[in-house]
Amino acid sequence: MADRVALVTGASRGIGLAIAQRLVHDGWRVCITARNAEPLAAAAEQLGGPERAITVPGKGDDEAHHADAVARTVTTFGRLDLLVNNTGINPVYGPLLGQDPAAVRKVFDVNFFGTLNMIRQAHGQWLGAHGGAIVNVSSISGLQPAEGLGAYAVSKAALIHLTRQLAIELAPGIRVNAVAPAVVETAFARRLFAGQEEELRKRYPLGRLGTPDDVAGAVAYLASPEAAWVTGQTIVLDGGISQTAHL
Ligand SMILES: NC(=O)c1ccc[n+]([C@@H]2O[C@H](COP(=O)([O-])OP(=O)(O)OC[C@H]3O[C@@H](n4cnc5c(N)ncnc54)[C@H](OP(=O)(O)O)[C@@H]3O)[C@@H](O)[C@H]2O)c1
Repeated sequence: MADRVALVTGASRGIGLAIAQRLVHDGWRVCITARNAEPLAAAAEQLGGPERAITVPGKGDDEAHHADAVARTVTTFGRLDLLVNNTGINPVYGPLLGQDPAAVRKVFDVNFFGTLNMIRQAHGQWLGAHGGAIVNVSSISGLQPAEGLGAYAVSKAALIHLTRQLAIELAPGIRVNAVAPAVVETAFARRLFAGQEEELRKRYPLGRLGTPDDVAGAVAYLASPEAAWVTGQTIVLDGGISQTAHL
């Protein structure tokens, strides 16, 4: 995949960083984003420095940031082949109707509208004329309701349908797919597994929680020519847990 260029959002740590690492390993150059500039710069250094990785710090719900991230990717590397919408937040837990409406709106602003606008920018500035691929990072909670995940789960369900809708609207030039992981051991999900790792592992038919590399492998596949006839799909990455009664 030499010369290919990807923009990966939310990639200073966790799943996004693993995706960027896997792409760089496969020969891609990457632009990575996140809010905090320092850890983002450290991640880019880890990825091989400015030859392989550039950074554009900014907020996932800031439309000017989306335009800037795409523009700087294209200006620096001369092209854009893949957009990975990985940024996602889940600031509120509990029943949906008990959640503060402003917090629900914030979840949608980042998880859904942030993704939609990033796609709009990538399409307008490069992909619409040149083709490419998009991968949205959803969640198993977007397919199956999960207690306490309220607004987050509904926003991730919206991403799955956005993926299907845009797959038909943007074909044949642009393939649009998604991944839907269950619990992956990152800072983001700590609240879901901290202190109960052993008990949780036993509930997964494959005997463990997910790793960021599990997700990165699926994204690398969806970005590759191996997936040239795949669009509108959501790959579930869950160690088999959705085949059992309890999520
Ligand atoms: N971990 C799981 O179990 C799991 C399961 C299913 C789906 N997912 C999805 O996977 C994606 C990545 O999650 P993760 O577990 O890797 O999380 P993580 O380890 O917390 O990493 C999140 C990344 O996104 C950035 N970020 C967070 N909030 C942001 C915002 N408002 N605007 C811009 N950037 C922001 C963070 O950097 P800054 O803090 O510096 O901004 C960081 O780089 C999310 O969409 C999440 O919903 C995760």
